[in-house]
Amino acid sequence: MDFLGIFWNFKQETILLSITVIFLLYIYATRNFKYWSERGIPYFRPIPFVGNLKEVVTFQRNIGFHLKHIYESVKGQPFKGFFIYDQPALMITDLDLLKMIFQKDFQYFVDKGISITKHDKLLGDALFTLKGQLWKEKRTKLSPAFSTSKLKNMYELVDEKANTLIDYLSDFGRLEQPIFVKDLLGRYGTDIVASLAFGIECNSVHDPHADFRENLKYSFLFSKIGALKFIGTFVDLPLLKLWPVKTTSKKVEKYFQKSVWNVVKQRQNPGQQLMRNDYLESLIRIADQFNNSKEHIEENLKIDIVSQAYTFLAAGFETTSSTILFSLYHLAMKSEVQNKLRHEIQEAVEANDGKLSYEVIHSLRYLDMVVSETLRLYPTMPILDRTCTKPFQIPGTNFVVDKGVHIFTSLLGIQRDPDLYPDPENFNPERFSEENKRNRHKFAYMPFGEGPRICIGKRMALMVAKNAISRILLNYEVLPSKHTPSKLEFDVRTFLLTTSHEIPLVFKNLK
Ligand code: HEM
Repeated sequence: MDFLGIFWNFKQETILLSITVIFLLYIYATRNFKYWSERGIPYFRPIPFVGNLKEVVTFQRNIGFHLKHIYESVKGQPFKGFFIYDQPALMITDLDLLKMIFQKDFQYFVDKGISITKHDKLLGDALFTLKGQLWKEKRTKLSPAFSTSKLKNMYELVDEKANTLIDYLSDFGRLEQPIFVKDLLGRYGTDIVASLAFGIECNSVHDPHADFRENLKYSFLFSKIGALKFIGTFVDLPLLKLWPVKTTSKKVEKYFQKSVWNVVKQRQNPGQQLMRNDYLESLIRIADQFNNSKEHIEENLKIDIVSQAYTFLAAGFETTSSTILFSLYHLAMKSEVQNKLRHEIQEAVEANDGKLSYEVIHSLRYLDMVVSETLRLYPTMPILDRTCTKPFQIPGTNFVVDKGVHIFTSLLGIQRDPDLYPDPENFNPERFSEENKRNRHKFAYMPFGEGPRICIGKRMALMVAKNAISRILLNYEVLPSKHTPSKLEFDVRTFLLTTSHEIPLVFKNLK
């Protein structure tokens, strides 16, 4: 056979092989697509390989806003099937049904979908990834670290950190120069996490290149493919078993492990009195209490403490700093709300010998209304999910949700639903007056989730956010600059709500 003949045969074989591979992939990717029709459940028609996530996969829409879009298309029906890639999922819009799933019948929906393999040394053991009994045990162990007395003790450290923020703003305040607040609050959030969860004094507010901050920047910094893979973790996408998600690099992983462990070792040294009232101290005490069998001490203890400290960072860092950011943005845009809030804070502080204590922060009604309204418009973790852990019949129907089905609801959908919140895009703290709250379904507002799996850091996040907002308003008038956008755009590469741009604001000295 001449050369041309060999080449021709080779080309034919390659084409045939490629067609066969594509065909087999297609069969595999669409194997579940009859799932909802076979059960007689209405569903959105999926597209091979992407399911119902076309706009997400093509980076036209943030996943949080995409689920809002799905929620709006389902409204009027209590639920509807859709597909996350090739996995069947159920979008629930009915608040009573959500109450059953999240609270009353929680025993059928104990797990969250998110699965991170044990390959991920930092997150493999994080509370939000754990399932069943393992989750229950870990949640019980960790809960004391978030008790009122522990939070009160931590408050001092939080208030101390706010000094650095106020200090930093003072030069800009004198000159009335705009500041990029997203970056600044990211640095502030970094310092809070470093202080509370890692026992490290990182001053990235003043030094943006501080070691801890530089390393943190490389966590959860996904490529486009990485971002799409991470969405797959919500439904435990089988492909991810072969191609696991990595939330950070080996180098950064080592940095965090070493940082935590050095502090733990120092604190365990009886010669050094380095105890602090932080979250890390609670983790060390919890670990000491439970890990007293000799053979299993050092390595397990290390993995456990590092993983829980890192969980704080993964779940609490950006969610909390973005809450402060969105609050300040709306306070700058609505001076009447800002003035009313400042007045409330000033009065309470004056009546408390000039101190903004833990108790004062918690007594401020209007502050609570402002932060609640912020979290209504911007639930920074906008997706709530559960996985069915045993068959559950939806009352009033013949439909039995199978074990393994992923349940979703959209917080942006619910909390911006015009039937629940008239004129939903308008920032109006009065929606959270006692009377208005009383007249609304409890599940119409759940930025921290609901039921036994509600955010474990809720009260800590609120304490940090309320402290920062109050300290800023006591010292500065917050104003928009001429470049402050009137509408916010959101990053399409993350499942958290974070703007894709900076927000410049002016902080004018009050004193
Ligand atoms: C404003 C800030 C925050 C928001 C909006 C937020 C929101 C949420 C939401 C929506 C969930 C899911 C709840 C559910 O499925 O029912 C969650 C879970 C969780 N959050 Fe937060 N969170 C915030 C701050 C924090 C902080 C500071 C921590 C610190 C440790 C934290 C740790 C966690 C953990 C560990 C879980 C998983 C709980 C479990 O599965 O048992 N969060 N959070």
